[in-house]
Amino acid sequence: MFPFSAQDRAAAVGAFKPDPRRTISKTQALSVYERAAKSVRDSESLYGGPATNVLLKAANLGTCKSIFEYGCGAGQLAERILSHEQAAAAMPEYLAIDLSPNMVAEASSRLRKFGGQARVACTKNQVGFLGDPGLEGRMDAFISTYVFDLLSDEEIANALTLAWRLLKPNGKLCLSGLTYGKGPIGWIATGIWEGIHWAFPEIVGGCRCQLLLPYLGPGWALDTDVTVAGGFLSSQVLVARKQPDQALF
Ligand SMILES: C[S@@+](CC[C@H](N)C(=O)[O-])C[C@H]1O[C@@H](n2cnc3c(N)ncnc32)[C@H](O)[C@@H]1O
Repeated sequence: MFPFSAQDRAAAVGAFKPDPRRTISKTQALSVYERAAKSVRDSESLYGGPATNVLLKAANLGTCKSIFEYGCGAGQLAERILSHEQAAAAMPEYLAIDLSPNMVAEASSRLRKFGGQARVACTKNQVGFLGDPGLEGRMDAFISTYVFDLLSDEEIANALTLAWRLLKPNGKLCLSGLTYGKGPIGWIATGIWEGIHWAFPEIVGGCRCQLLLPYLGPGWALDTDVTVAGGFLSSQVLVARKQPDQALF
């Protein structure tokens, strides 16, 4: 992983209001997602599907030559993006990482048909291709769906720093994740979800409702920030562009 100092990280975490809710540890996340490698499909789920459609439309990835996905799970989103772009005859390079070896195995097998255009690395014990300094500033888009929901403030700061370093100037940060519902049904669903997360976070995969915007410092210019309902739950969809002349946090 690209190095950045403990001081940078502390400044990053201190820049936004800390989230007091507990998050699951990496070991807990591994145990949850290793078991769920065949069933997790948030980006295609009842709640995540509509938000993913909005995210892909807003992100307009057709012009991207290189895409990075953080927490790719079993690779459904990568398959969708690459199939679409393959049909448009402009398949981008697609690099993806995930913490779970089982998820990486699922994703690698799903994406094998795209040959060397798609590469997936497991970050459980190694950094994989993230160790390649040539990646810095090379990506057109950094995408992540339903992963920041389970990360701590410090891990979110790390992930945003990684995004900022991988992206070209003006490159796109494309995020979706669970957020707070609107209206009586949305409030009740959010309350039930948050109650389960508070008592038994692993049951909901460690995912909690979030507002992602406060995590983005001046280093990001916001293009899209919408809330999309899917089933009883709601997701936040954010697209922002890297501003290389601004401070990240
Ligand atoms: C809720 S699933 C979402 C999967 C996929 N992005 C989707 O939308 O269907 C969360 C994924 O993030 C991965 N993950 C959890 N913590 C991670 C970390 N620190 N770094 C990379 N991946 C992580 C999990 O292994 C799992 O595949």
